[in-house]
Amino acid sequence: MNMKGSSSRHGLAILFIALQFSSILAYPPFHRERNMEYVKSSCNSTAYPRLCYRSLSVYASKINTSPRLLVHTALNVTLRASKSTSRLLVTVSRIHGLEPRVVAAMADCVEVIGDSVDELQQSIGELGRISSSNFSLTMSDVQTWVSAALTDEDTCMDGFAGNNMNGYAKTVVRKRIVKIAHLTSNALALINNYASTQS
Ligand SMILES: *[C@@H]1O[C@H](CO)[C@@H](O)[C@H](O)[C@H]1NC(C)=O
Ligand SMILES: *[C@@H]1O[C@H](CO)[C@@H](O)[C@H](O)[C@H]1NC(C)=O
Ligand SMILES: *[C@@H]1O[C@H](CO)[C@@H](O)[C@H](O)[C@H]1NC(C)=O
Repeated sequence: MNMKGSSSRHGLAILFIALQFSSILAYPPFHRERNMEYVKSSCNSTAYPRLCYRSLSVYASKINTSPRLLVHTALNVTLRASKSTSRLLVTVSRIHGLEPRVVAAMADCVEVIGDSVDELQQSIGELGRISSSNFSLTMSDVQTWVSAALTDEDTCMDGFAGNNMNGYAKTVVRKRIVKIAHLTSNALALINNYASTQS
């Protein structure tokens, strides 16, 4: 029996275990911290940084400091919120007894928010082609789709200005429209950042 070989084998085993421990103990928290910091500093450049951080930090580990995944996640979150708001608009617009001007404003909103959902979907489709196509050309298409979605949301919000809408419809819907407009504005800021880093 070779004592020297055995002790060096022990040494290796201990080193191996130590490495396992260091990767279990040190790396995940380190990455979590780094990923959270990446989302936070990226959100810093948006118009609504707190909303940005609140909506994206739960995906920090998936985003993992990739600007493409950050943008994709921001668009996914915005699309999901827009779809749900679009469904709410349809429901509220069918409430009986709304004033005619409210009915008209709601009908406009149903249409333009429906358009903005389509445009967000188009932008996500374009982003998916980014690795196989001309980066700056594709990013410019993504920017165009997301800007169009933002314009549609603004158009809907204009319907809430002044006394066009009152009461229930206004209370329930306005907050949601403002939120998706802010999410869209944030997504556009992140897209603009991504576009400018690569050109
Ligand atoms: C966010 O921006 C402010 C100044 O605009 C800066 O002081 C702060 O350090 C930034 N935070 C992060 C996380 O980048
Ligand atoms: C975006 O949403 C799609 C469809 O739900 C999903 O397959 C994809 O993984 C999401 N991407 C990111 C980066 O979250
Ligand atoms: C991408 O398209 C732009 C605008 O048409 C052009 O200037 C640029 O050279 C293209 N880049 C590549 C890598 O093809």
